[in-house]
Amino acid sequence: MAQMQDCMTIEDQIAALGPWFHNMRIRGVETSPDHFLGDYPAIKWKAFKHIVPDDLEGRSVLDIGCNAGFYAQEMKRRNAGRVVGIDSDPHYLRQAKFAATQNGIDIEYRLMSVYDVAQLREKFDLVLFMGVLYHLRYPLLALDLLYEHVVGEEMLFQCMQRGADAVGPVEEDYNFQEWQVFNRPDYPKLFFVEHRFSNDPTNWFIPNRAGVEAMLRSSGFLIEANPEREVYLVRRGQRPYMNETVPRVGAL
Ligand SMILES: C[S@@+](CC[C@H](N)C(=O)[O-])C[C@H]1O[C@@H](n2cnc3c(N)ncnc32)[C@H](O)[C@@H]1O
Repeated sequence: MAQMQDCMTIEDQIAALGPWFHNMRIRGVETSPDHFLGDYPAIKWKAFKHIVPDDLEGRSVLDIGCNAGFYAQEMKRRNAGRVVGIDSDPHYLRQAKFAATQNGIDIEYRLMSVYDVAQLREKFDLVLFMGVLYHLRYPLLALDLLYEHVVGEEMLFQCMQRGADAVGPVEEDYNFQEWQVFNRPDYPKLFFVEHRFSNDPTNWFIPNRAGVEAMLRSSGFLIEANPEREVYLVRRGQRPYMNETVPRVGAL
């Protein structure tokens, strides 16, 4: 295999590993130049990179749902220490390993689901959880597991949103007769996708902005910055009262 790769051009090797979601630059070649979102995720990164320190001073980073490793590589370029990328899809991990090797960047990649992060047995200074939540059937379970097991200090979070952009006040409690508040567009909501959204069978829940913020708070995260509509920098805070503990997950 390695010998076969030696005779292949970089373009051929990139094509053989396709299709690519991340438009990486590998030895001057773009991996997904016709991406439906443009030069993605570079275009997204541009809008929020100012909230990530230029010098991460050796901080440890975990990139969950790392895909081909665009963000993991950016963290390493910003002087992160140990960078671990996990993804549940071996196809994307092959791309990530190839891109890191070709770009000479040292990142540890592991085939792992977000539901299994307890196995890492480590808390990271910075966790990236970008573009994954709406792909999960159990989104709050994932956030609870991240709080419980891997977020040491901060988390960079992104989620697709639909519905109202406004965030309204939420009372501590509502009486059983309350009906109207649930019709408010700025009340926290999760839209359930029974079939498909954007022809992707892995899109399950799409929150509105109030929904994203409420879920983050509910799992114990304090919102520090919201530099772009979908992107949040959050810090580990106190977990609010829970009437159940986070279940142990193995079989998902
Ligand atoms: C929309 S892409 C986002 C990629 C990257 N984080 C970004 O923001 O550009 C979603 C990624 O999450 C991964 N993913 C989906 N479900 C996952 C799970 N349960 N555990 C880990 N990764 C998952 C997919 O394989 C895919 O690489």
